[in-house]
Amino acid sequence: MRPRSEYAEPYRIKVVEPIQLTTREEREQIIAKAGYNVFNIPSDKVYIDFLTDSGTSAMSDYQWAGLMVGDEAYAGSKNFHHLKETVEEISGFEYVLPTHQGRAAENILTTILVKPGERVLGNMHFDTTEGHIRLKGGEPVNLVIKEGLETATRHPFKGNIDIGRLIDEIKTYGPERISYIDITVTCNSNGGQPVSMGNIREASRIAREHSIPVFLDAARFAENAYFIREREEGYENKSIAEIAREMFSYADGFTMSAKKDGLVNIGGIFATRDGELYKKAGEWGIIYEGFLTYGGLAGRDLEAMARGLKEVLDEDYLENRIGQVAYLGDCLLDGDIPIIEPTGGHGVYLDARRFLPLIPQSAFPAQALVVELYVEAGIRAVELGTAAFGHKDKKTGEMVYPALELVRLAIPRRVYTDRHMDMVVRALRNIAGRKDRIRGLKLVYEAPVLRHFTAVFEQL
Ligand code: F0G
Repeated sequence: MRPRSEYAEPYRIKVVEPIQLTTREEREQIIAKAGYNVFNIPSDKVYIDFLTDSGTSAMSDYQWAGLMVGDEAYAGSKNFHHLKETVEEISGFEYVLPTHQGRAAENILTTILVKPGERVLGNMHFDTTEGHIRLKGGEPVNLVIKEGLETATRHPFKGNIDIGRLIDEIKTYGPERISYIDITVTCNSNGGQPVSMGNIREASRIAREHSIPVFLDAARFAENAYFIREREEGYENKSIAEIAREMFSYADGFTMSAKKDGLVNIGGIFATRDGELYKKAGEWGIIYEGFLTYGGLAGRDLEAMARGLKEVLDEDYLENRIGQVAYLGDCLLDGDIPIIEPTGGHGVYLDARRFLPLIPQSAFPAQALVVELYVEAGIRAVELGTAAFGHKDKKTGEMVYPALELVRLAIPRRVYTDRHMDMVVRALRNIAGRKDRIRGLKLVYEAPVLRHFTAVFEQL
């Protein structure tokens, strides 16, 4: 890897959006009023927003210029054709359906492929994908390698599918009961961890042997390609575009939230090489999203997306992007802050169980850390622990706690500088210095599904 110190950002800043730091007293009031849930905080009261890397990236001047050439025709917009050509060039897939965001493409794919009682195998399905599979009566099955679930184990491709378990699944249930295989690159649910080319190739070979379709969840495909170049033998001299093209060659199609590696604020894509599948997808796309050539988006959004998809393959951009995430991770490790290692593509994940060992899972340690980060420095992170994934067992009524208690610091693309990262490090070090005095939380309101978005807590 090229030493990061040689390089600064491969862009200069032309437009700025002011952000303001509130006082600690103000933040204490704001978070209490928000029920200790950062989803309820007005974003202008957030100084550094690490809630998500989705739809929060900065567009380039070239993308902004693209908005001015939006062709808002209902059918056949020239921006659609630009997008289609771009997707075909990057992925090799001829059939392209724009959608308003990633989950809309998942809705279409699961509608056409999943029948009740079937299983969808993958490394780790993102939660919207899981939701769509379940809504169609299917069963999402996560087959990530065991290292992928261990926060302190170093492995270059912690997003890989466990090939042995994949074969067992196919043997046990039979290929006719498997709707498709969905490989999420990078694997968001365990820290933005990459999937190796070897693993995609092998999973695809097995799937093809059994005529099971393979799709990629390509939300962060370019970041995955970058890791392959950095870490997998035989790829060190290939371009990111070549690597991405090879990744897609093992799939029958992809769904994508373009809000990540499309470098846009809104947009999604369904693409495939299979004309029949595209026809069916289009029938549903028209009802759910809009006509085939706009899919719930303005022409200008399609243009920004076409341009973003090209920019994201730029090697200097990716080095800087992944390098910034690694920089934050390294500084935190230097300060003995426990994180998922190695850092992934789009953020740093704090291990709240190791960080706050005195708070039991029943008192939401990861959520308590999210609250502290906001109070300490106006930083908004997201809880991926008991609040998000804990649930009551349907039969016994007992609480089932998730294996991991994480706080995700998701880093928007091209938005914050390394000085912002340094501030995050200082904040976490300060919190570590007073961790014995941090209080857990009690849940006082929860919705029946996806409770973390609207949950209300009290401090213990
Ligand atoms: N797939 C992956 C891997 C994702 O990370 C997301 C969204 C989606 C699909 C759904 O896409 O939001 O455009 O409908 N992830 C966001 C996040 C929300 O914060 O990680 P969408």
